Amino acid sequence: MTSIIEEIEALKRENDAVLLAHYYVEDEVQAIADYVGDSYYLAKVAVGLKERTIVFAGVSFMGESAKILNPDKTVLMPDPNADCPMAHMAEIEKIKAVREEYEDVAVVCYINSTAELKMHSDVCVTSANAMKIVQALPNRNIFFIPDENLGRYIASKVPDKHFIFNEGFCHVHKSVTAENIMRIKALYPQAEVLMHPECTPEALETADYIGSTSGIIEYATKSEKNEFIVATEVGVLYKLKCQNPDKSFYGLGPKMFCPNMKKITLEKIRDCLKNHTGVVEVDDAKREKSLIPLKRMLDLAK
Ligand code: 13P
Ligand code: SF4
Repeated sequence: MTSIIEEIEALKRENDAVLLAHYYVEDEVQAIADYVGDSYYLAKVAVGLKERTIVFAGVSFMGESAKILNPDKTVLMPDPNADCPMAHMAEIEKIKAVREEYEDVAVVCYINSTAELKMHSDVCVTSANAMKIVQALPNRNIFFIPDENLGRYIASKVPDKHFIFNEGFCHVHKSVTAENIMRIKALYPQAEVLMHPECTPEALETADYIGSTSGIIEYATKSEKNEFIVATEVGVLYKLKCQNPDKSFYGLGPKMFCPNMKKITLEKIRDCLKNHTGVVEVDDAKREKSLIPLKRMLDLAK
């Protein structure tokens, strides 16, 4: 009997398709993906792929960004309902009001955002490149959307700029508290705390290392330490354990589970390739305008 993995491989060949996956999707999806990474890596990889079809194992804004960057390719989302709630947590009216108030403002848009929000922004960032990009901007005033926590973290690292914040958040990372960390630290006092900057400023104070998903993996892999408390979505544990079989990683339990990332299954990957469903469409006007901040990110982050 043909296994589902063999079916997917055959369908990929038939459709001239490549599979991209974020570190937060299920282990078995990461295991068969052609490219696995953080949001910045996946946006970079999406540019210049030779295959005609991109299957994106991730949430909507990722597939949408891949389509914006590759208008001539077919981009398939295995589950079009896998959406990041934070991607919608900013208002166009608020952007317009801030632009009125601050003449020189740069609207800096976390890639976890809809194309609609990107259209009204000056530059996109991810957690891996936000600091470098904000530092490189000539503007003193920065309106950071949609994530308040990432915005506040970057602001703490770039004190010469004035930040205006927006009240967006990731419900997974916002659930991490300093008390959580201290309780686990009491059990594993030697462990280093690795944390994603979508966590609150209070939680970030307990961290030994703060970075994007790929930053966390790289830090733990290079570290001489053997034990780590991992304060980000549980999916990251898969790569951490594969790359570091002799080290110990402690997660924060079921609350660090992104229900949208976990909607992506092998069955849905097979079915979207078989039935040509989940096709990402972005109309030309929206695509042209949202391409500008995405391209600027790729240029400034080099
Ligand atoms: P990174 O992979 O860029 O660290 O992003 C985390 C995230 O929340 C993606 O949805
Ligand atoms: Fe959105 Fe948070 Fe899930 Fe990432 S982990 S997709 S930011 S809800």
